[in-house]
Amino acid sequence: MNVLGVETSCDDTSLALVRDGRLVGCLTSSQTVTHQRFGGVVPEVASREHLKEIIPLYHRLLSETGVLTSDLDLIGATFGPGLSGSLLVGAQFASGLSAHLGCPCLPVNHLEGHVFSVFLDGSPLPAYPWLILLVSGGHTALILALGPHSYRMLGETIDDSVGECFDKVARFLSLDYPGGPQIEQKAEGGAVLYQFPQSFLKEKDYRFSYSGLKTAVCSFTERNSFRLNDICCSFQTAAINPLLVKIKQALTEFSAKVLLIAGGVSANNFLRSGCLKIGEKHGIQVLMPERKWAMDNAGMIALAAYHIHKSGKGLQRRSIDPGWTLC
Ligand code: KG4
Ligand code: ZN
Repeated sequence: MNVLGVETSCDDTSLALVRDGRLVGCLTSSQTVTHQRFGGVVPEVASREHLKEIIPLYHRLLSETGVLTSDLDLIGATFGPGLSGSLLVGAQFASGLSAHLGCPCLPVNHLEGHVFSVFLDGSPLPAYPWLILLVSGGHTALILALGPHSYRMLGETIDDSVGECFDKVARFLSLDYPGGPQIEQKAEGGAVLYQFPQSFLKEKDYRFSYSGLKTAVCSFTERNSFRLNDICCSFQTAAINPLLVKIKQALTEFSAKVLLIAGGVSANNFLRSGCLKIGEKHGIQVLMPERKWAMDNAGMIALAAYHIHKSGKGLQRRSIDPGWTLC
């Protein structure tokens, strides 16, 4: 079965081909440089770029994978959450192609796509339940996956997401967008010299909060002299530690068989090594995407579509939903 994946939820135009659950090819046209001068994604610019890129990218994917349009059996496209103009480009492209071919178009939730990014290396789906930490530019959530396509929200951020906090602090420190990789790189040469606030550490629930941390770092740097590496290292610790604390808490409350982390921030090595240590201590498997698949890509969307289709639980949503929640 040949599945075409289409991802245009934010600032990456990405198309991929998955055959029988294995990734055959993935092409991504990143708009990072275009948005860098604005310090963040400009929605109107993003959708225009998707429009320009998507059809040439589709032809390149077919020629590089040796697949014909008529070979496609299923199209999976991100229908939400994301920027509405950007989502529209991918969803319309996928719907049009599906009508032309007479093959189904399956709407994929971008967050469920991130969950499947960990299986792009060809590893099999483990037994449920899975404890999932979803950390992207727009989301910070702890979720329990009880079965295929069945999710229970344990808790999420009440304000900014952790990725957004990395980006905002980086911008304040005059580092490039996206801020996460920049801060991680600077943090390597620094030490935890400053204590910044970490929210909800003692509460029994699974809420997160990042707006206080952002404000604390920004006002500290306005009033004090500092070494950039130390600020980045102190900030990174304060941003990642609450995630690790809540994962440990959830693993004692729920009997998950697997810890899975996904979303752009799952590329962060401080988070990855913290999760591996927790996995060792609790004797559970830790799954995380290869770093190159942590950021948005259509491979994860095609793979999610393949598994959702196989489970017979695909949605018949016809229009995009910029606020589509996973559970
Ligand atoms: O999942 P993603 O590619 O896009 C969304 O769906 O939002 O996540 C992008 C986010 C950005 O906020 C970026 O700064 C963050 O992931 N990120 C990182 C790292 N790499 C990307 N944050 C911390 N450390 C990283 N190495
Ligand atoms: Zn994403």
